[in-house]
Amino acid sequence: MAVIANKCPQYKVTVVDINPDRIARWNSDELPIYEPGLEEIVKARRGKNLFFSTDVEKGIQECEIIFVSVNTPTKNFGAGAGMAADLQYWDKTARQIRECARSDKIIVEKSTLPVKTAQAMKRILTCEDNGIRFDVLSNPEFLAEGTAIRDLENPDRVLIGSSQTPNGLRARDVLVEIYANWVPRDRIITSNIWSSELSKLVANAFLAQRISSINSISALCEKADADIQEVARAVGTDSRVGSCFLNASVGFGGSCFKKDILNLVYLCRYYDLKEVADYWEGVIRINDYQKERFILKMLDALFNTLADKKVCLFGFAFKANTGDTRESPAIFVARRLLEERARVVITDPKALQNAMIDMEGESGDISYVEDPYAACEGCSAIAVMTEWQTYAGLDYERIYRSMVKPAFIFDGRNILDHQRLFEVGFNVFPVGKPGLTHF
Ligand code: UGA
Repeated sequence: MAVIANKCPQYKVTVVDINPDRIARWNSDELPIYEPGLEEIVKARRGKNLFFSTDVEKGIQECEIIFVSVNTPTKNFGAGAGMAADLQYWDKTARQIRECARSDKIIVEKSTLPVKTAQAMKRILTCEDNGIRFDVLSNPEFLAEGTAIRDLENPDRVLIGSSQTPNGLRARDVLVEIYANWVPRDRIITSNIWSSELSKLVANAFLAQRISSINSISALCEKADADIQEVARAVGTDSRVGSCFLNASVGFGGSCFKKDILNLVYLCRYYDLKEVADYWEGVIRINDYQKERFILKMLDALFNTLADKKVCLFGFAFKANTGDTRESPAIFVARRLLEERARVVITDPKALQNAMIDMEGESGDISYVEDPYAACEGCSAIAVMTEWQTYAGLDYERIYRSMVKPAFIFDGRNILDHQRLFEVGFNVFPVGKPGLTHF
């Protein structure tokens, strides 16, 4: 919404939320999320054509277009628990819009939703004939965290799904006109509403599948003395495959990949497509396997016991340039280390607050240290969890001196200079390459 306000000064954008603390922070100097470039835009547009408010009713009444961006977590109760999307917030929002609206509205699905949710939305909105017209569009978001502003300003594509009736197409054109303020027309794709909803789930499933594919091969490389980065390069230079998203890692995280694949799997099961469901579920299975493999590698290297050993996690965010830790592989690794009775030290430039919330209630020895040098002191091992660039530029001789020997580094992101670390004295274990050890 901030980017729309920035690109289209002729529109008035109001963001409403029922959480007063969150809205207060959006109106303050300290925004509730860290995203490079966002603060500048919010500060430039706020009070001019970008407003944040808790008055949901007024927001609904005053606007012509409503982007619904409520959360759709994985359902944790009842039918489809652990798989299907929890649509209660969507349902409540649709009812609130119906009750408050006094004029025609275009409703835009921004949240990622299972196929045919737009239809359900339309039915809830139109079940009472109060003379108000609602047109529902699907406009999934493809931005990635950490590069959100860049992705929004220069998207590969914008996707708008609508019903193919004259009213549906008219509503679609209104939304096309907004994006056309800065997105070239040939990158604004239109489709029917269900293709649009499904494309979002499938896009994330394909991206996650690439990571699971390369991660599965990383296990083979470690056994077969091959190098996953060399393999990824050789495979990715085939223009049909492409080179992006082939970085082997400790596993993917983030609020979307797992949730959206589970959703896809649930849909397939619902339609009795067992083989298709199993195929996509394999992407999640490999991701879980990769995280567990990382822990087992640490355990094996540190002489089959981690008890009482201090292990420092470099990074807790699910990826670099964000403070977001949702579904971060670091959460899994930290928990498993505590189970092994290791003493866990967590450092991260932006995610320490969230790390504390994630680890609340976990029993064991766990500490949070902002300075990576201080965090490593007295540790037996470092595990790189997040590809923050700052970790590649640290003084590893100084770090080595402050650690317990033998000292280990497990580079879960392959961002460090492994040969150099080995020469400093570390035993080094990258992902998808044989370890470099002094024994
Ligand atoms: C992802 C998609 O990339 C976006 O297109 C989509 O809009 C978004 O989900 C969403 O549905 O909201 P995001 O989760 O923010 O974006 O971040 P990604 O860059 O996709 O990274 C996801 C995870 O995969 C991270 O943990 C990252 O470190 C990991 N990853 C990524 C790898 O392990 N290897 C890679 O080569 C790339």
